Amino acid sequence: MQAFNTTSLTLSDNRLWILDQQALPQEKQWRTCDSVEELVGHIHSLRVRGAPLIGLSASLLLALLAERGLPREELEQALITLRAARPTAVNLMNNLDRMKLALAQPQWVSAMVEEALRLVEEDRKLCDRIADHGAELVKPGSRLLTHCNTGGLATAGIGTAIGVLLRAHQQGNVQQVWVDETRPLLQGGRLTAWELGELGIPYKLICDSMAASLMAQGQVDAVWVGADRIAANGDVANKIGTYSLAVLAHYHRIPFYVAAPHTTHDPHCPNGAAIPIEQRAATEVTGVAGSFGSCQWAPVDAPVYNPAFDVTPAALISGWVFDSGVITPQQANEGIFTRALG
Ligand code: MRU
Repeated sequence: MQAFNTTSLTLSDNRLWILDQQALPQEKQWRTCDSVEELVGHIHSLRVRGAPLIGLSASLLLALLAERGLPREELEQALITLRAARPTAVNLMNNLDRMKLALAQPQWVSAMVEEALRLVEEDRKLCDRIADHGAELVKPGSRLLTHCNTGGLATAGIGTAIGVLLRAHQQGNVQQVWVDETRPLLQGGRLTAWELGELGIPYKLICDSMAASLMAQGQVDAVWVGADRIAANGDVANKIGTYSLAVLAHYHRIPFYVAAPHTTHDPHCPNGAAIPIEQRAATEVTGVAGSFGSCQWAPVDAPVYNPAFDVTPAALISGWVFDSGVITPQQANEGIFTRALG
């Protein structure tokens, strides 16, 4: 299979390598990924994360396994296993649907290889188009707030919300980015802070609970987030904490934008209530663990609620920035949303 590199995926000598997103930023460790079980483990532990990247890594692994001669029935089983690895991010299902069609071709090995590489290339381009459209909404001197990580680490390209921030920064319109640390797994504090630093975008890291007072002080001009799934009515599932930001932004009359590729849209899901939300381990809330070490502060047996995502209702969103363009709240109400993406 043709070699390539992205920020967090490498394909070389017919092996898939992933940049361990649990070890960053303290350590830059590349790990191999040779089996479905290994990839499912990486996805569960969030070594591989971000809606687009999860779908791409699953597709690439399937193509590699096909090339290595895995029988068709086992590839069909692999499709089912991978599909269940992350229930909320619909990019995974969308990409695997395309891989399933490739598997149904008479020349299925070459069809799967071509399709997986096409998905990577498409994702790169989708990110660029999202950035083009999104940057038009960023006013000069903007102080923008973002949540979780939506950059090159989470996609094959420059990212979704972070791609917009990068393009706007290149156009000289970003004064500063406020980075939510994003409890419980700290994708903001660990990954977005690292990525923005690498990109040379000025940022300041904040605890999630600081966003409200910053907004009250007039220090946030817009909020930019990504998405794991966008329902047919425009409701958005994204990293836990996104909904609180949307409510805060609405109260303070600050625009709240969602940036995502069309592969994040799920026209079969009528609304946010129908989006499956992954529940995660209690230990993620009772303490922290990573390459920086681990510690637990809560009682060992503390009962915990730990949903990985929440749902932001469409009514709180000022614009959905897709690769195909920006959908306004008015267009969404008129039903253009579904038609424009379909
Ligand atoms: O649990 P994660 O880190 O995979 O959650 C990621 C997010 O919520 C992102 O905002 C989303 O996947 C979009 S990434 C371009």
